[in-house]
Amino acid sequence: MMGDRGRKCLFPVAGMGTRFLPATKEIPKEMLPLIDKPIIQYGVEEAVRSGCVEIVFVTGRGKRAIEDHFDRSIELEQLLLEKGKADCARIVKEISEMADFAYVRQPEPLGLGHAVLCGEPFCRGEPFGVILPDDVMISPPGSPPVLEQLFLVHDRMGGSVVALEEVPLEEAGRYGMIKGELVEKGLFRIEDLVEKPGPGGVPSRYAVMGRYVLSPTIFRHLKSSAAGAGDEIQLTDALKVLAKDEPLWGVLYEGERFDCGTIENWLKATLGMALEREDLRDIVFCELKRLGVLVGGDGAAVSEDGNVRSS
Ligand code: UTP
Repeated sequence: MMGDRGRKCLFPVAGMGTRFLPATKEIPKEMLPLIDKPIIQYGVEEAVRSGCVEIVFVTGRGKRAIEDHFDRSIELEQLLLEKGKADCARIVKEISEMADFAYVRQPEPLGLGHAVLCGEPFCRGEPFGVILPDDVMISPPGSPPVLEQLFLVHDRMGGSVVALEEVPLEEAGRYGMIKGELVEKGLFRIEDLVEKPGPGGVPSRYAVMGRYVLSPTIFRHLKSSAAGAGDEIQLTDALKVLAKDEPLWGVLYEGERFDCGTIENWLKATLGMALEREDLRDIVFCELKRLGVLVGGDGAAVSEDGNVRSS
């Protein structure tokens, strides 16, 4: 059961963000915009809509902008009000009111598992959500947010829960892949996990994506897990051991994932999101047209030589 105060969610954001240098020399990658909000805000909004009232950021050097973003900015609000921009003032104020925000420092980037371990004091022996904000998840209208989909399985079945996505075989080497048994539609009981398997060792097509609901037992396994590849403490290693002791469920989540972890994918996410917004869709199409890329009637972009480039 969750604590009296409601659900909580951990955001490991202490990574270096090297793939976005030089943009991330001073700005944390989580603060890069996706359309009109920083990437991290999408994850926080998902957690809040999933019933989380406490948000814990595991931060590192150079991440002050995240703290400032979710803090109250009285001067800015005042300035906006004085300029007659009450709507903007309200938007700014609401960010700080979404939840209780707490911060814990990961002294060295010793891996995702280590970052989760740093959040232990905030979890008070209760289950908690984890969101990796690089993956922005948008659930279909009428469906619960993706983290909530995991909490619902946890409430019904106990144990820990991870989000799963079916990926093409050739992409399996980029993810943590599961071995498990389908117990009901869209729900697996996980027996084992393999992090970034080689071509011969792919156990299934189901990859773990950046959403988790973890039982507090994970901390015991993280502490005893030997440092894995690259001397980092891997979350996957601790989940493997946990799966032997207590149920670990995998949910094929309903929703669309926008991966913002690399420049290429962030660009695709920006375009994908712009195309889904009525106020921006035409701007993208018009700009593609202006640049010499024509747009077909079915929405597919067609170059002047007639080749379909994307849809
Ligand atoms: P990534 O593997 O994407 O690494 O981390 P990164 O450092 O953020 O980015 P690159 O590879 O240098 O560009 C996955 C998640 O785990 C967090 C990251 O902040 C990200 O949310 N993380 C990773 C930590 O909090 N601490 C770590 O030691 C490692």
